[in-house]
Parts: sequence; C-alpha cells; structure tokens
Amino acid sequence: MPPFRNLPALRRLTPSSSSSIRLRTTSIPCHLRTLATAPAATTTAPPSSDRVAIVTGAARGIGRAIALRLARDGYSITASDLPAQQPQLDSLVDEIASLGTAVRAHAHAADVTSPAEVGALVRSSASALGPLDTMVANAGIAQVKPLLELTPADFTRMLEVNVAGVHYCFQAAARQMIAQQQEESNPGGDAIRGGKLIAAASIVAFKPFALLGHYSASKWAVRGLSQVYAMELARHRITANAYAPGIVDTSMWELIDDGLGHHHGRAKGESIRKYSDELIALGRTSVPEDVAGLVSFLASRDADYVTGQTYVVDGGIIYT
Ligand SMILES: NC(=O)c1ccc[n+]([C@@H]2O[C@H](COP(=O)([O-])OP(=O)(O)OC[C@H]3O[C@@H](n4cnc5c(N)ncnc54)[C@H](O)[C@@H]3O)[C@@H](O)[C@H]2O)c1
Repeated sequence: MPPFRNLPALRRLTPSSSSSIRLRTTSIPCHLRTLATAPAATTTAPPSSDRVAIVTGAARGIGRAIALRLARDGYSITASDLPAQQPQLDSLVDEIASLGTAVRAHAHAADVTSPAEVGALVRSSASALGPLDTMVANAGIAQVKPLLELTPADFTRMLEVNVAGVHYCFQAAARQMIAQQQEESNPGGDAIRGGKLIAAASIVAFKPFALLGHYSASKWAVRGLSQVYAMELARHRITANAYAPGIVDTSMWELIDDGLGHHHGRAKGESIRKYSDELIALGRTSVPEDVAGLVSFLASRDADYVTGQTYVVDGGIIYT
C-alpha cells in the first residue's frame, strides 16, 4: 500500500504526536490548492506557505538554523536527529511555534544510517504535516585523524553517516514525493508537485583538508550522489542539490579544532582562529545562519530550475 493513501484526509489530521504543534488548519483539498497556486504549466511546487520540509541533524548547529529559517520562510518542519537529542528537538518545535507564523512543527527522532528509521521518519512527517516537499539531509559527523591511522571502523562509520545517510534520506523522500504525485495527479496534468532534495556537502568536496581524509571523501561523495539524484529524478520534477559550508562555528568545528590542536600542538580555539584568519576572504568565521540563507534559496521556488549543483557558502575560501 502506498504510504500516502488519502492526501486530503491526511491534511486535515490533527497531529497525534506530543511533539507536534499545529498553528493553523487548512482544509482545502491539496489538489485544489495546487491548481489554485499554479501560475504556469511548469509549476513544480506549491508556495512555501503550504510546504513541508524534513531537516535531519536539526537538534543543533547548522541543521537547527536551517529548520528555523525554513519555518520563517513559511515551511512546516519535521525536525529530526538522533533519539538522544529528543529534548533539543522538542525545544526547537517550541521555538518554531513561538515564531507566530502559520507553520506547523513536528519532531521525530531517527538515525540516518538506518533505512527503516528514515522510512518511519518520512511516514511520520507525512502523517503529521501532509505531503513532503523538501528533504534537507543535513546530519553528519567529522573526525580528525591521519589517513594512515584510520581503522576500517572509522572509515565505514564516516561513509555510513555522511553518504549512506544522505542516500537513505533522499531515497525515502523521493519515494514519498513520487507516491504523492501519483495520488495527486490532476486531470489537466500540468501542475505536478515536484520536490527538492538538499544535502550537506562541504568545501572539502572541492578541496580536501589534511587530517580530514575520510570526511573529505565522504563529502566529495555527497556531491556526486546529489548529481546522480538530479539526473535520475528530473523526470519526476524532483531536484537535488547540496550546500558546501566552510568553517562554521558549531560543535562540529569544536571537535575539529580539538583534533587539529592535538595534532599540531595548538591551544583550544587556536586552529579555528588561525584558519578563519588565514583562509576566509570575508574575514570572519561562518555562523549557521550563513548556511541557512543558502538552503532557504535552494528550498525556494526561485531554485526550481537549479539541479545537480553543490553551492559553496564559505566567505571566500574555495573559488569554483
Ligand atoms: N560546521 C562546519 O564547519 C561544517 C562545514 C561543512 C559542512 N558541514 C556539514 O554540515 C552538517 C551540519 O554540521 P554542524 O556543524 O551543524 O554539525 P553538528 O555536529 O553541530 O550537528 C550535527 C547533527 O547531526 C546529528 N547526527 C549525527 N549523526 C547522526 C545520525 N546517524 N543520525 C541522525 N543525526 C545524526 C548530531 O546529533 C547533530 O545534532 C554536517 O553534515 C557537516 O558535515 C559543517
């Protein structure tokens, strides 16, 4: 049975999860809304005021900023992270509710390395918030270690989270989006609800960083994977893109700073300062909101004709 049998009915559902907050109810059947908001035959998605995004790794850092930004843009949000981060997800849902906009928010914990958990995440989002428009596969890990010291477990874990995790998120989201299209297919056949798949790459997907070898390889793979998703899913009006941040002041860079400091004999905070000073043309370390601004564009209708791209947002480190 398709995961999304009766879209109009589901749109009127009151979310059952205690982590879900509904701020405004709309009962217009989705096929009517798609038609009403479609300005042209090339329309691929409804306006952001009627759209749903899943953001993984949303408990903190870049993912949290993306979830808040997309909510401000009018997206309803399913925020996801590891089960241990449930309290942070719940507080994010509360914060989105406090924005006072017309969006809804829902939290569902999932480990992105588990296809079953990612499938459940997508189904939970659809049940709570309605058809899925955008998947932001943001969750990721880093590790500072010389290539010659990497264990097979280090390497496998990196690829499992950063590459397979993106694939499972894109795959489950795309299947959901295609099922929705089949449910929603309108008699005119000219307004198809498309979809947007967006992944976290990194500047190391363009120029690797010493001591971040397997991380660099994983992000390079994300860039390639997004391109193939773009090729294979274009016929479903689903786009796939990635964002490539530089040096963003989050827990992940704290870990990288610690690792580089340990290796080079630098004090805490010295590595991030050094690389920010030496490498970033715009002269400041990035903040998560810098990245969220780019993702906001990639998730918007202004990006409907953009696919297969990885956009750098690094203040001027890498020039593509
Ligand atoms: N911080 C940077 O400078 C930087 C630069 C380039 C790219 N990125 C990428 O941006 C993304 C977000 O980075 P961040 O700096 O916010 O990192 P972060 O470590 O602050 O947050 C990552 C989040 O992902 C979650 N996560 C980790 N493994 C998971 C799993 N298996 N399943 C579900 N969730 C999981 C963590 O719990 C955490 O909340 C990552 O993919 C990272 O590689 C970050």
